[in-house]
Amino acid sequence: MRYRPISARSTPVLILSFLSLLQPAQLVKHENFKTCSQSGFCKRNRALADRAQAAGASWTAPYELDEKTLQLKDGVLTGKIWKTEAGGIELPLQISLLENGIARVTIDEAQRKAGEITFRHDSKARKERYNEAGKWALVGGHKCQRTATMETKEGVTTVVYGPDNYEARITHKPFSVQFLRKGEVYVVLNDRNLMNVEHWRPKIEKPEGEEPTEDEETYWEETFGGNTDSKPRGPESVALDITFPGYDHVYGIPEHATSLSLKETRGGEGHYSEPYRLYNADVFEYETDSPMTLYGSIPFMQAQKKGSAVGVFWLSAAETWVDVVKTKQSPHVLTTEKASTQTHWISESGLLDVFVLPGPDAIWVYRQYGELTGFTALPAMFSIAYHQCRWNYVSQDDVEDVDRKFDKFDIPYDVIWLDIEHTDGKKYFTWDPLTFKKPESMQKTLAKRDRKLVAIVDPHIKNDGDYTVGKEMVDKGFGVKDKGGDKVYEGWCWPGSSHWVDCFNPAAVDWWKTLFKFDKYIGSTPNLWIWNDMNEPSVFNGPETTMPKDNIHHGNWEHRDVHNINGMSFHNATYEGLKVRLGNGKERRPFVLTRSFFAGSQRSAAMWTGDNQADWAHLQQAFPMLLANGIAGFPFAGADVGGFFGNPSKELLTRWYQAGAFYPFFRGHAHIDAKRREPYLAGEPYVSIIRDAIRLRYSLLPAWYTAFQRASWQGMPILRPHFVAFPDDEAGFAIDDQFFLGDTGLLAKPVVKESATETTIYFPDDEVYYDYFDFSAYHRKGHHEVPATLEKIPLFMRGGYIIPRKDRPRRSSGLMKYDPYTLVISVSSEGSAGGVLYVDDGETYAHESGAYIHRAFTFNHGDNALRSANLHPEPEKAAAYNKVMRSVRVERIIVVGVGKEWATRREVEVKQGSKSWKAKIVYTEGRGGRANTAMVRDPKVSIAKDWSISFA
Ligand code: NOJ
Repeated sequence: MRYRPISARSTPVLILSFLSLLQPAQLVKHENFKTCSQSGFCKRNRALADRAQAAGASWTAPYELDEKTLQLKDGVLTGKIWKTEAGGIELPLQISLLENGIARVTIDEAQRKAGEITFRHDSKARKERYNEAGKWALVGGHKCQRTATMETKEGVTTVVYGPDNYEARITHKPFSVQFLRKGEVYVVLNDRNLMNVEHWRPKIEKPEGEEPTEDEETYWEETFGGNTDSKPRGPESVALDITFPGYDHVYGIPEHATSLSLKETRGGEGHYSEPYRLYNADVFEYETDSPMTLYGSIPFMQAQKKGSAVGVFWLSAAETWVDVVKTKQSPHVLTTEKASTQTHWISESGLLDVFVLPGPDAIWVYRQYGELTGFTALPAMFSIAYHQCRWNYVSQDDVEDVDRKFDKFDIPYDVIWLDIEHTDGKKYFTWDPLTFKKPESMQKTLAKRDRKLVAIVDPHIKNDGDYTVGKEMVDKGFGVKDKGGDKVYEGWCWPGSSHWVDCFNPAAVDWWKTLFKFDKYIGSTPNLWIWNDMNEPSVFNGPETTMPKDNIHHGNWEHRDVHNINGMSFHNATYEGLKVRLGNGKERRPFVLTRSFFAGSQRSAAMWTGDNQADWAHLQQAFPMLLANGIAGFPFAGADVGGFFGNPSKELLTRWYQAGAFYPFFRGHAHIDAKRREPYLAGEPYVSIIRDAIRLRYSLLPAWYTAFQRASWQGMPILRPHFVAFPDDEAGFAIDDQFFLGDTGLLAKPVVKESATETTIYFPDDEVYYDYFDFSAYHRKGHHEVPATLEKIPLFMRGGYIIPRKDRPRRSSGLMKYDPYTLVISVSSEGSAGGVLYVDDGETYAHESGAYIHRAFTFNHGDNALRSANLHPEPEKAAAYNKVMRSVRVERIIVVGVGKEWATRREVEVKQGSKSWKAKIVYTEGRGGRANTAMVRDPKVSIAKDWSISFA
C-alpha cells in the first residue's frame, strides 16, 4: 500500500506530521520498480548493444531488405525485411513519406503457420503485434507525398520526397536508413546495427538437466516483486538505435525528473547508468535527477545543434527504455568535431513504428509533431488562473470558509478542488452524505464570484454490489479483464477491492460519458470540472503498483500492449462526457486534469507532475519537467505548488508561489498529512508576497492566454527554453531554470534556491533587458547578477515587445472578462517593439467559428507611433463578438526605455476610425541604471478596433 489512506478526520495526522519533522525527506523505494537488468527484454537488448560495442566493425545486424520486394506507390514505400535467423522471419516494411516532410517507418511481423510459433492457448491475448497506438495518438498530418521518387543503386535505395526534396537513403544489407536534408544527414536509423525484432518462436522444452540460458529465463514468464507475468506470446520486443549526427543535445521523452537536456545513460561521471524508462507508474516519493519512470510517457525526442533541430516520435504504447550516449564517432556518417547523440529505443511489444521529423528548426518540429498528434486544446480562461487544492477540503463549510478567506485577504483564485475524501466511501460521482450535504448550493456560492469546483474521479471503481456505477460497469462487461480474459480484474486501490473501467472499449466510453450527465452525477452543476488521478493505472497490490501486463482489454489486447495509453484513454472519455453534458450547441471547453498521459493527451487534458515533495530539490526539478512537457506537445502542465509531501518552510512556500505563477497549470496542493497552507495562513510578509505573485499571474493572463492560443494553433511551447528562442546560441542549450513566456519577450528565472538574495541570469543577446518591476536596464549579452530577495521574482522584458496585461485586482479571472487592458512597451535598442493579443470568450467554442479578436501591436521609432492592427483573417466572422468587446478599452500604456526627449511631451494624438483626440502622457526619468518611462493615461482606444497613437 503506497499511501496511508487515513481519513482527513483521523487523529494520527498530527503525530505523523510531528514525526516527519524528525525524519529526513523519504526516498523512493527503488526495489519496487524494475531496473533495466530486472526487465527481461531491456536486459537482452542492452546486452546486444554491449556485444555490438565489443565487436566493433565486425558487428552486423541480421536484417536484410529484399530488393525485389520494394515498391513505391503514392508516397508509400513497401517491401520485406528478412530477419536472417531462425530460418528467416518475414518483417513487412512500410515507409510513408508525408507531405509535411515527416517519414514514418513501420516494421511488422508477418503471421506464420501454426507450429512455427507457440502462443499460450489458455490465454485470450490477441496474437498480433499491437497496431492501434496510432488510433489513439495520431490525428492527421499524414497525407503522403505522391510525387516521391525512388532509385536503387548498389544495394542502396534513395527516395526523394517532401517539400524540400528530402532524401531517405535505405541501405539493404544490413537494413538501415539515413535521412538527409540539403545533402546533410540528420537522422540515421540502425546506425549501430542494434535493431532487434524478437520474433515469435516455438517454446522449446529443455531436455532434463539443461538449464535455460539467461535470456531464455524471461522469455515465457517473468517474476518481479512476487508477481508473475505469464507472457502468453513469449519474447516480442522491438528495438532500434537512432543516431542524430552532429546534434549534441536531445530533449523530451517526458516524464522524467531530470534535466531538460538529457544526460547520457550508460554510466560515467555525472551520467546515469540506467536508460530513461517510459512505463506509466505511480512512483511513490519519486526522486529528482533520475531517469526512473513516472506517471506519463511521451516517446518524442527533439535533437538540437546550432541552428538546426529535428525530432523522432517512437509510437509504442508498451513499456519502453531509451539509452542516450554522446560520441564523436558514427559507423556510417562522418560527423563534424561536434558530438553526435546516439539513442537506443527498446519496447516490450507491438510494432516498430517511428516517425522522423525533419524540422529544420524547433518551431517546425513542434508544428510537425502537432500535425501528427494534435495541438493542445485551447483551455477555458479560468483553468489557466490559480487553483486551490488540498487532500482534502473536508466539508462544505471548509470549502466555503476557504473561499471567504481568499476574499478577506484579497487573493484571487478561480477554482477550489475536492480530493477523494469528498465522496461517499470512495465511490466516485457521489458525495459524503455527512460532510457534503448540499453540493449544488456550495457550487452556487462559488459561482457568485465566477469560481469553479473540481472534483476527483479515478478509474478504479469500488467493488461493491450496492454501488450503481460499479454494478453497471461489471454487468455490462466494461471492466478490464484478468489474464484469462473472462473475469473482471480485481485489485486494490483507495476504495479497497476495485475494478477498472476499460476505456479501450468504445461501448464503455459511451457509458462513461453518460455518468457526467446532471441527472446521473447528482449534485454536479455546469460549474464542476474533473480531476482524473491514479490512471496509470495505480493498483496498490499490482506489479510495480500497476496492472498485471497479462490483463486483457477490449479487442483482446494485453495490458502490456496498451499500458502507456491507459491513462489517456480514461481522461479522453472524461473529457467527452464533460463536453456533451450541456447538450448540443451549448458545449463549454472541458477542464480535465490527468496524472497519466501519452502522446495526444494535450488534446483533452492538463497534467501535473504528481507527488513531489516540499523541498528545494523538487522546486528546482519542476521547471525542467514542465519545459520537457512543453516541447513534447503537452504544455498545459504544472507541479504541486508548495510540494505534495511534507511541510514547506514559509520561504519555500513563497518561492514556490513565485515559481508557480509561471507554471502553465498553477495549483497549490498538499498531502492529507500536511499542515494547512492556504496562502493567507503564511503570515506577513509571506502573505503579501504570495498575493503579489498570484496577482502577477492574473495581470498577465492576457499574455498567457495568447501563448496558449499559439500553442493550440501551431504547437509552440508556452514556456520557451532558450534553444527555441535563440537556436544559434549554444551557450543556452542546456539552460533549464530560465525561459521565455510565449511571444511576450518576458524572460523569467523564478528563484528555486534557499536563502537567495541574488541570482545569476543569462541574457542571450545584446538587446536591452529591463527588469519587469523597476525597469533597471541590462545591455550586455552574458551572465548577470540580479537582485533576488524574497519579494523579488527575477523577471525581465527583452527590448522590442508589447505585453498585454489587465491590472485591476479582482477575485477571479471571470470577473476580469471586460476589464480594460494595460499595454507595456519594452522599447528595443533600435527603438521599436511589437506584440500580439488573442482574446475570445474564454469558455465556449465560438472561437472556432471565428468569434475572437487577434491583434498585432507595433511601436515604431521612425514615426513614433503605436498601432493596433487586425490579424483575424476573416474579420466578418468576428463582427458579433467585436460588438460585445468594443467598449473594452486600453486604459494605460507604459513605454519603457524612452529617450530624454520624451520629457517634454504632455499629450499624444489618438486616432481610431475617423475620429481623433488627445490623451495625457507622463514622463518619469529612470535613475540608478533604470530606464526612462512614459505613461499614457486612458487613451480610450478599443481592444477590438484598429487605432494609432502618435507620440511625436
Ligand atoms: C495521488 C495524487 O497524486 C494526489 O495528488 C492526490 O491527492 C492523492 N492521490 C489522493 O487522491
